[in-house]
This record gives sequence, structure tokens and C-alpha cells, in this order.
Amino acid sequence: MQIHKRPPASILFIFGGSGDLNYRKLTPALYNLFLDEWMPEQFAIAGLGRSPYSNEDYNKHLLEGISKFSRRKGEQNGHWKDFSNHVTYLQMDAEDPASYSKITDFVTQKEEEWSVHPTVIFYLAVAPQLVPNIATRLGELNLCSDKHCTRIVVEKPFGHDLQSAHELNELLAKKFTEEQIYRIDHYLGKETIQNILAFRFANALFEPVWNRNYIDNIQITAAESVGLEGRGGYYERAGALRDMVQNHILQIMCILAMEAPVSFDANEVRNKKVDVLNAIRRITPGKVHEHAVRGQYSAGWMKGNKVAGYREEKGVDPKSNIDTYAAVKFYIDNWRWQGVPIYVRTGKYLHQKATNIIITFKEAPPYSFPIEAAQTWRPNRLTISIQPEMDIRIRFQAKRPGQTMTLDPVDMTFNYDAANGEHAPEAYETLLLDVMEGDATLFMRGDQVDAAWKVIMPILETWENRTPQDFPNYAPDSWGPDDADALVARDGHTWINLPTK
Ligand code: BG6
Repeated sequence: MQIHKRPPASILFIFGGSGDLNYRKLTPALYNLFLDEWMPEQFAIAGLGRSPYSNEDYNKHLLEGISKFSRRKGEQNGHWKDFSNHVTYLQMDAEDPASYSKITDFVTQKEEEWSVHPTVIFYLAVAPQLVPNIATRLGELNLCSDKHCTRIVVEKPFGHDLQSAHELNELLAKKFTEEQIYRIDHYLGKETIQNILAFRFANALFEPVWNRNYIDNIQITAAESVGLEGRGGYYERAGALRDMVQNHILQIMCILAMEAPVSFDANEVRNKKVDVLNAIRRITPGKVHEHAVRGQYSAGWMKGNKVAGYREEKGVDPKSNIDTYAAVKFYIDNWRWQGVPIYVRTGKYLHQKATNIIITFKEAPPYSFPIEAAQTWRPNRLTISIQPEMDIRIRFQAKRPGQTMTLDPVDMTFNYDAANGEHAPEAYETLLLDVMEGDATLFMRGDQVDAAWKVIMPILETWENRTPQDFPNYAPDSWGPDDADALVARDGHTWINLPTK
């Protein structure tokens, strides 16, 4: 990543080219890569979709997405025109096998124009039920037999449960090699999450204390202040546990808990992560209620605005028992982590948007200090704020200036923006660049996805078989259901909500 070397000539086909993900995330990311001179010298982007668009209207539509959602809003001094010359819209029905010839024709045309054999990337930004058919048809194209230069990117959710994920993996494996498959978890592309690896493994200071001998407990929060944002249809088949815990949160856990990789080779890093997933203690169905809490938001007020309850949202069953909040206590049964509880929680319409990791260390013995000094005694705490705050804070005890020995907890902070003075790239920028470069380190391998499903299946099955008696059980703008407080209180802890800045 240090050497600014552009990827080789590439063609990106975006299935779901007229869809929301492309509009909000993919095109803004590609345009930022272009502005930062990371796009290949020769590249073409083809948006594929059923809606009729002229090239001109399509580009107008994409620019609107950039103005709304990119970290750099709008045209950027006329560069948009240069970029949009590389963008084409191909109207096609992905369910119609005959229309796939448009893809091969497009590739042939570019090959002739550029006189090179480009990398061809198929990005499946479509509803999960469309993935098997599209992948099968693509796999039948001659150009996919080039295992080195053809890649397929599959968005989450990867499967609906262990069995369907397994089947999808098997289907993909019939047509593509594992090296050709890029399973996206956009959290892995976030700067602050990648930095956890640097923090842990590029510093000699933390590794010796990064274990059960020094760490008391870990909390991972991925709180959202938004609701469904019109995704009722999708969410009714998902729920918070599937939508956030099975992927994003378990991936964060893997990075936090993994052993040091021997190299940053994609398979080496992924092997170490799979080891973590395999070591997570399986929660037996009879114990689910002791380890996991689910919630669903009611109607109420969010920052002064009246909002509908989950069951009143568009596309949602009025009797729905889908979880919009999930909290789980995990244990990792290995030498490093045995006995350290890892509490995770996520939910929609929570009080504050905040993704963070809080590592609380064991207390130092206070007996050598006078009793008054120990009154404000707090254990050391390391806080890694992923978003929207982006910082790392270490809390330690310091002497309050004065003639008496009084102690205060104080923070030492590293702030990304202050240190780097510019906006970090968005997750999709990093991930799209990696796909073009053929680096799969930040993508999920098939066995990783399976292992993550295995961790949450007992909870999912138990929840599906037992109707919740108290839904809806939390108000918008709160921190979730009371039972989630009880989950940590049973171990003598409380959830740590960081103050908003
Ligand atoms: C997606 C989920 O994977 O992640 C959404 O499907 C969620 O429900 C989103 O809102 C959160 O992503 P971020 O980057 O905003 O934290």
C-alpha cells in the first residue's frame, strides 16, 4: 500500500448498477480512487441493470449520488467528466442467459481498444436471492475460465444461515476458485479497523498484556441512530444478529483476538481469524437466554422527531418478531482468552451512532495508597473508537497536582484527523482497490463465513423457535432493552456509553 502503484487495466461490471449500493457507496468510492489517482490507467465501469437509462442519464444519476453521499461532494473541478467517460450503462436482465453476451462483447471491445488482457471484475450488488443464478451464468462464460484475471465480488448477506451459506459456497466453488471470490464485509475496509492490526502488532507495548492475565473484559458496541431506512423487505429476513453480529462484529472480534500472523499474506491472516471463530464457545440452546438478548424498537421519538415502531414500518409484518437489537456475551476458549467475557451489542434507533471497542484491564492492587486516594481508583481502559469518532484512548491513573496523594483517571488520546489532517478513505475505496489489485486479505474466505454462521446458529434457532413475549421492548433514542443491562450486570459490569463530543 505504501508504493503508489496503480492496479492493472480493469473492467468492473456492477450488477445492480442502478441500485442503491452503487449509488451511495460504489461509484463514490470509485470516483474518489480516480481523484486520488488510484484507478488503473486503463479502466471501464459498466453498470448493469434492468431500468432503462441512457449513458448520459445514468451518469447524471451517479453524480447525484456523489453529491449526496461521497466524502468529497460534487464534481471536483471538472474531473467528473473525465471519470464519467469511463462509465457505461448496459441494460440487461440478469435472469436472461442470452443477455450475458453483452458482457463478453464489452470485454472483447475493450481488449481490442487497449491491446491488453484486462482484469475483469463482476460486482454482485444485488438482492441475495439473485446471486446463485448470476454467479452460475457468469461461471459459464469463457472468460471466467481465466482464473487469474477474472474475479467475482459477493456482497453480504452471504447466505441466510449456515446451510444456505454452505450451499452458496459450494455453488461458487463449482465455477470459481477460492482466489477468484471476494466476499465483502465492508467493516474490514474501515481505516480504524485495519489500524487495530497495526496497533496490536506494530507495537511492543501492548502484546504482552493482550490476554486473560491482564484483560478483565471487552465490550464491542455497534450502535446506530438510524432505523430501517426503507429496507423493511430485507430486514424482515435478517434482524440485527444476522445483519451485524454474524459478520461485522465477529470480524472485529477476530482482529482483536487473533494471534500474530507470520506475514500479511491473505491466507495467513485469514487462517488466524478462523482460529478465533473456531475457538468461540458454542452457546447451547438451553443457555441462550443467559448469553443473548434481543430487542425490537417501539414507536417513539428520535432526536425530537416522531418515528414509527418497527412493526409499523413499510414492508414489515405487523406481528414481526425480528430483532432490531442484539446483545451477546461470548467467550473464546483458548490460552489467550479463556474466561474473558466479550460483550457485544448492536441495534437500530439507539441513542447515539457509535462503534467502539472498550477493553477494560484488571485492577492494579490499590493497597499502597491511602484510602482517600483509592476512592477514584479506576482500572486501565483502552478505547478504540471506530466511528464516527476515530480515536484511541488509554485511561490511566494520575496524581492530582497538590500536596495530597489523590488519584484521578486521565486519558491519553490519539485522534486520526488531528494526526493525519485529512479524511481517511472510505471502506469501499480500500476494498475496491484491493479487488483490482488481487489482494484478498480484507475479504472473507469461505470457511470463515461458515465458521461465523456456526457461532450464531444456536442463538438464531432458539430465537426463531421461541416467540418473544415482550416485543417491542425498547424505545427509540434509548440504549436498548433493560434485559441487555441485566446481561452485563450479572457479571458486575455495565455497558459503557461514551459521551458524544
Ligand atoms: C450494513 C447493514 O452491513 O451495515 C446495515 O446491512 C447497517 O443495516 C450498516 O446500517 C452499517 O454500516 P456502517 O458502515 O454505517 O456502520
